[in-house]
Amino acid sequence: MSTRDHWPRRVRIVEVGPRDGLQNEAATIPTAAKVRFIELLADAGLADIEATSFVSPRAVPQLADGEAVLAALRRRAGLRYTALVPNARGLERALRARVQGVALFTAATDAFAERNIRMSVAESLAAFSPLATDAHAAGLWVRGYLSVCFGCPYSGAVAPTTVLDVARRFLDLGIDELALADTIGVATPGQVQAVAGLVREHIGTATLALHCHDTRGTALANVLAAFDVGVTTFDASAAGLGGCPFAPGASGNLATEDLLYMLDGMGVETGVQLDGVAAASRYLLGVLGRPPASRYLQAGRWDRGAAAVVTNASGQAKG
Ligand code: COA
Ligand code: ZN
Repeated sequence: MSTRDHWPRRVRIVEVGPRDGLQNEAATIPTAAKVRFIELLADAGLADIEATSFVSPRAVPQLADGEAVLAALRRRAGLRYTALVPNARGLERALRARVQGVALFTAATDAFAERNIRMSVAESLAAFSPLATDAHAAGLWVRGYLSVCFGCPYSGAVAPTTVLDVARRFLDLGIDELALADTIGVATPGQVQAVAGLVREHIGTATLALHCHDTRGTALANVLAAFDVGVTTFDASAAGLGGCPFAPGASGNLATEDLLYMLDGMGVETGVQLDGVAAASRYLLGVLGRPPASRYLQAGRWDRGAAAVVTNASGQAKG
């Protein structure tokens, strides 16, 4: 069967820019700018937005204003705001901030988990078990992130069976979604199929998501490869910002507008408007004083089927 036979009719995009994208930014971004960025993303039709994290403000100072961000966001029907949570304190903060979902996070390797959350993988899963129960009891949706599934900056290659082992223990906590993360952007398509294909056999009723960083230019190829093994939920970050302060070598996430450009062209529905996401990205890049990071914004708008007019990121015709 060709790859094309596996194209899904619809893909769900989880927007992680406000969390994964912003957490690595050195200069403090005003809370009001974060709120405006998120509202623009919601205007574009994104229905799953990871708005912030409730981690130690010492670990990630940029997101220390999570409460204020969530307090300012207009709540909309059908839109789920989630936050990253590492411990009971984080869950309490998330509940008070009235999120609709939380994301717990550990790693495929002890070396990464210890540096990121100061626990071994086994310790983290033991600590998360009551958090998942409490979050569900409070009516929240629970996602589990598994970092460094395709390679670890501290311990190197990661075997698919290692990912499967941790994934199964994570799924045993009853999480609603498992996101396999290529935290440092080293994955290639065959590896995505091997790992995601293996985990998918054990996913049960949970959803399997793929979280790609485009560090080495393989993110879109990895998305297509994941279609072949039935993955239809993908994380992306507006403007392609992102990285992990605890993962040397990590660079931006797969840009939401690059993912959308490809999916729109393939006729895959997402419910998200590319122009709207591009507007959110342009707004944020303006705040950061940065040139466009995503390929789509660098190249300019392309109206399929229209007369051939090439524009640059600011909408001017390009010679
Ligand atoms: N919210 C706010 N503050 C928190 C907190 C939370 N969820 N969890 C811990 N803290 C504070 C503690 O009060 C303590 O503050 P103090 O130093 O002023 O007393 C400090 O953070 C350390 O707390 P401790 O319980 O000793 O944790 P730790 O040092 O073992 O760190 C984590 C563990 C998980 C809290 C920390 O490593 C962390 O927040 N990691 C998140 C990393 C991250 O977001 N990575 C990017 C995502 S991939
Ligand atoms: Zn990431």
